[in-house]
Amino acid sequence: MPSEARIIGTGAYLPKQVLTNQDLEKMVETTDEWIVTRTGMKERRIADKDEFTSDMGYQACLKALESAKTSPDAIDLILCATLTPDYIFPSTACLLQSRLKATNAAAIDIQAACSGYIYGLAIAKSFVESGLYKNVLVVASEKLSSIVNYKDRNTCVLFGDGASACVVSSSKVAGLSIRDVNLGSDGELAELLILPAGGSRRPATQETVAQELHFLRMEGKEVFKHAVRRMESASKTCLDRAGLTEAAISWLIPHQANIRIIEAIARRFDVSMERVYMTIHKYGNTSASSVGIALDELLKEQKILPGQNLLLTAFGAGLTWGASILTMESGHE
Ligand SMILES: CC(C)(COP(=O)(O)OP(=O)(O)OC[C@H]1O[C@@H](n2cnc3c(N)ncnc32)[C@H](O)[C@@H]1OP(=O)(O)O)[C@@H](O)C(=O)NCCC(=O)NCCS
Repeated sequence: MPSEARIIGTGAYLPKQVLTNQDLEKMVETTDEWIVTRTGMKERRIADKDEFTSDMGYQACLKALESAKTSPDAIDLILCATLTPDYIFPSTACLLQSRLKATNAAAIDIQAACSGYIYGLAIAKSFVESGLYKNVLVVASEKLSSIVNYKDRNTCVLFGDGASACVVSSSKVAGLSIRDVNLGSDGELAELLILPAGGSRRPATQETVAQELHFLRMEGKEVFKHAVRRMESASKTCLDRAGLTEAAISWLIPHQANIRIIEAIARRFDVSMERVYMTIHKYGNTSASSVGIALDELLKEQKILPGQNLLLTAFGAGLTWGASILTMESGHE
């Protein structure tokens, strides 16, 4: 029986260009004060014109492979979570497979919006624990600036670009075991957060461009309500199944969509804000990448001791949501 899958290395990449609230004040009718109090965001990163989702994902993968001390040819599967792929097809995962020279890897994209990293962990865990694969590279990368309408103040202040990655392995070196993952979806609410055109339902035409249907649209208030409820229930299920109480959470790493959503989740689990890891003030919402970027930064900043538990939770378009419990394990090799 193969052992529990572990995250044995992580990486992240953020583009250099910074878009501040003050910059946004010059672009739309908004204020730094509104953005900070309503969202918690101060800055976000924006990719260069010629820097794409696969480029950012590649940089995050290199760092994750290095930290996992794993070579690209030991990777059996690449899972790339993104809602801003380089192309509709071929998959961004295939572009990464070639760039990394991961010659033994299968490759597939995951479309689960902001929940993509946690969906990726679930799929990786299943492949590793079934014994089919030893090493799965999970990468989440987003160039949200390519689908954000910088004339729409309701959405343009919220999103940023960036990538994260991790190696999920059957190896028993020190790492974070993926104790449990809980996923969910509700397609009845698909219209709440959507990129209306560019797919088979509304292929690109002059009209779709003129009507600005190639930019993301969101009903923020509605999304907000569901976000809190769904992340809470997914997290609770995860804790129950892992046999852990709320007091056993050392760190909460929530999707970085809105500080008020994060605070609401922390309150429901009675986790003090000192134990909630946040990057929202500097990167905004980087969709699928967000939880992975926060996890990577947490591991670099804080010593996580064997036995400590991290609770990851995310929520996004679809609707989709998920939660995962990770436990730090010492090495046995
Ligand atoms: C988008 C969001 C920040 C808006 O906050 P809110 O408190 O719900 O604000 P509302 O939508 O009620 O808007 C309040 C007012 O602020 C205005 N407003 C919206 N964006 C603004 C901005 N950037 N600057 C200034 N005013 C703004 C609205 O037009 C509205 O004005 P009105 O009352 O005159 O119509 C919030 O709803 C949210 O974070 N939703 C969830 C987002 C999310 O999780 N998305 C991703 C899931 S992955």
